[in-house]
Amino acid sequence: MTADKVTRIRNMKGRERIAALTAYDFALAKMLDDAGLPLLLVGDSLGMVVLGYPNTTFVTMAEMEHHVRAVARAKPRALLAADMPRGSCETPANAVENARRLIAAGAEAVKTEGGRNILPQIQAILAEGIPLLGHLGMLPQNVIVEGGYHVKGKNEEERLALMADALALAQAGAFGIVLELVSAAVAREITGKVSIPTIGIGSGPDCDGEILVTTDLLGTSPGFIPKHVKKSWHLAEQIHAAVVEWKEGVVHPHRP
Ligand code: KIV
Repeated sequence: MTADKVTRIRNMKGRERIAALTAYDFALAKMLDDAGLPLLLVGDSLGMVVLGYPNTTFVTMAEMEHHVRAVARAKPRALLAADMPRGSCETPANAVENARRLIAAGAEAVKTEGGRNILPQIQAILAEGIPLLGHLGMLPQNVIVEGGYHVKGKNEEERLALMADALALAQAGAFGIVLELVSAAVAREITGKVSIPTIGIGSGPDCDGEILVTTDLLGTSPGFIPKHVKKSWHLAEQIHAAVVEWKEGVVHPHRP
């Protein structure tokens, strides 16, 4: 079953564009899965949009497991991938141990941030038969070190490094690669060269698919909505209106 879902995503390359979203809890997962997406990700973005951390570096394995369990209870038809949080992929042995924990919590695949720098960890996870989605470009787990969210691939050195990382991930057996904040030209070039699907976020229109943080799409993320979100549904405003209207009804009841 998991293998079929992975194969389906691999086979979409060059045939059908991939639309993927993040899911953090049971109810959201059910709603997203009803839309027929092939891939749902329990992203460590949950640290920011659910748990109120300033960035993803604070997210723990225990927190990821908790949310993966909730999403898995929705029994999605989509492939359910889960992020390996910062610090969970330091050595091949601890990468395998933590990937197994996420699978035990209900994930069907894991996502790792990085390329050749964590290749032994990636190979070890794949050797366990655990499907793996790579993540290159701007790596949110490096946001403190890098001092912000900056577009990657803007010079030749970065272009070559991204290409080599993408080829290494495909060669290792990853079933896809998230390209985050990669310049559109480099994302297009990588997409044309690798045999596996690229799933872009803020990386232009030419990846094999796109992924968004769902609360950015819905407009319920605390803080700002990133520029790459073409249309946000601003549901936070509707929730506010619903709550205010209800509160007014309680405070000033209408008694005929
Ligand atoms: O954590 C996350 O939500 C992600 C997506 C932005 C791809 O990694």
